[in-house]
Amino acid sequence: MSQDETVTVAEGEARASVVEGAPWWRQAAVYQIYPRSFADANGDGLGDLPGVTSRADYLERLGIDAVWLSPFYPSELADGGYDVADYRDVDPRLGTLADFDAMLDALHSRGIRVVVDIVPNHSSDRHVWFQEALAAGRGSAARERYIFRDGTGTDGAEPPSDWQSVFGGPAWERVADGQWYLHSFAVEQPDLNWSNPEVRADFVRTLRFWSDRGVDGFRIDVAHMLTKDLSEPLPSAAELELIPRDGDHPLLDRDDVHEVYAEWRAVFDSYDPPRTAVAEAWVDKARVPLYARPESLGQAFNFDLLEADFDAAQFRAVVQENLELAAASGSSSTWVLSNHDVVRHASRYGLPHPARTADGHPAQKHGSEWLLSGGTSPVLDREAGERRARAATLFVLALPGSSYLYQGEELGLHEVAEIPDAERQDPTFFRSRGAEIGRDGCRVPLPWEPSAETAFGFGSGGSHLPQPEWFGRSAVSVEEGDPDSTLSLYRRALELRHALQTAESLEWVETGRADVLRFRRPNGWEVVTNFGGSPFPLDRADAVVASVPLVEGALPADATVWFGPVALRVGAGRRPDRRSGLVPRLDGLVRDGLAS
Ligand code: NOJ
Repeated sequence: MSQDETVTVAEGEARASVVEGAPWWRQAAVYQIYPRSFADANGDGLGDLPGVTSRADYLERLGIDAVWLSPFYPSELADGGYDVADYRDVDPRLGTLADFDAMLDALHSRGIRVVVDIVPNHSSDRHVWFQEALAAGRGSAARERYIFRDGTGTDGAEPPSDWQSVFGGPAWERVADGQWYLHSFAVEQPDLNWSNPEVRADFVRTLRFWSDRGVDGFRIDVAHMLTKDLSEPLPSAAELELIPRDGDHPLLDRDDVHEVYAEWRAVFDSYDPPRTAVAEAWVDKARVPLYARPESLGQAFNFDLLEADFDAAQFRAVVQENLELAAASGSSSTWVLSNHDVVRHASRYGLPHPARTADGHPAQKHGSEWLLSGGTSPVLDREAGERRARAATLFVLALPGSSYLYQGEELGLHEVAEIPDAERQDPTFFRSRGAEIGRDGCRVPLPWEPSAETAFGFGSGGSHLPQPEWFGRSAVSVEEGDPDSTLSLYRRALELRHALQTAESLEWVETGRADVLRFRRPNGWEVVTNFGGSPFPLDRADAVVASVPLVEGALPADATVWFGPVALRVGAGRRPDRRSGLVPRLDGLVRDGLAS
């Protein structure tokens, strides 16, 4: 049966459908681990790979299908590990390649796939190539692996252009012999030269290195920035802004980047099963399918929900548009509510008027009251934020496509606002001279235990970012014992998701209320979310999970409920079988139902 086919039982009965033969990633729940902040096994205050292995049972019990690891490679941590000094090794503070293999085995033996992060636009300035480039001097082959230019003005003392880096400040840095190099991000992240075949060949080697070790897929960092047209004269920053981003922009989303990905696709497809990839590509909507095509990277992140308010109309528009884009690409959609770059969604949804930067991104301004107040200001309604976050998560987990979850969201964690400036790590904070507070608040090490003594169970060596006192209430061991906790909700929803998974489509069901969304999947799985202020009376009494208790047959404000196909209700709450993907006792029931 093809992945789009739906098996439907007789009219009038509960309908059920299965998706057989579809690649695993099309509708996976992928859990992002930020390794330095997940679990610290050796007590040095930094999370590590043995720490991940030690929590493999936790990950299995959570019910996710795959783990995506942010970079764990050797790095000076100028950008949280996205400054890679060696693409084919493990940072000694995080472990060894043997630790990586042990972690991979531990996850694979539990049926959890592993995706690693590839950072191809830039290396670290500590990478041996960059060190060689500095030593070899102007005109050398070593400099050709990066983007070096002579300066302008008297004695070349001015940068080649007035471009700004993404993190703020100039995008060019001068080296000792007077030349300048381009760094689209931090000074410690020199951009690689993707016109150089040696650079291309080396990344193929890296992809094979990790694929040969058994990783299942790759997340591609700023996938839209690799190739560049740097013909002279370079345009000014103002001129760059005016150039259409239609495939021929000098720096962004160039059509020729797909020549790189076509080569990578051949590498991915040379493995059995083929390795997967997901693009982090901040490009015009209409161009996302170029990255998500099967002949390119195969899937692309959709970040629209990071920028949407908790609002029915916005959610519906985002879902509709992205399902259409995914269909246009031949891929499946992806849903993201939190990641290591944005304010956690429990906090975003607790703001009365979601604060936004001028370009529509969720606010991270240093001056915003709720951040300065340590997250305890009445401006941030913590309880409402958590309630809406649970509702939003339950909504997206039921959508067709993949859900990307960020470590700690399963605990309902809020952003940590109370980090003293002296302890901040994010280059955006420093390069913007504190105007941007940066991303440290969502990267604070996870609380596993309620006691602050062991850094809340993170490890015996403290925590590399300060953990607030309120973390104890959200510790894993506390939430595990509470059937109403956010962790219990995630576990139940992820478990049910395996049993409910169906063909990649949905049908909107009109609710008569602008603030209530309802959709139905092809097997009868139904989802209702109340984004509004007053309860919404339900016409079904067979809920399988809800983000808050239903009250007298109604769905309260800021809440989501799932209704499952009839057969499912019998055994809801049991562990899914990793091979069939079905809750064991339901396996027979659903299959019987399908056969009847
Ligand atoms: C995107 C990553 O998500 C972010 O954390 C990083 O700072 C930039 N790319 C640069 O690598």
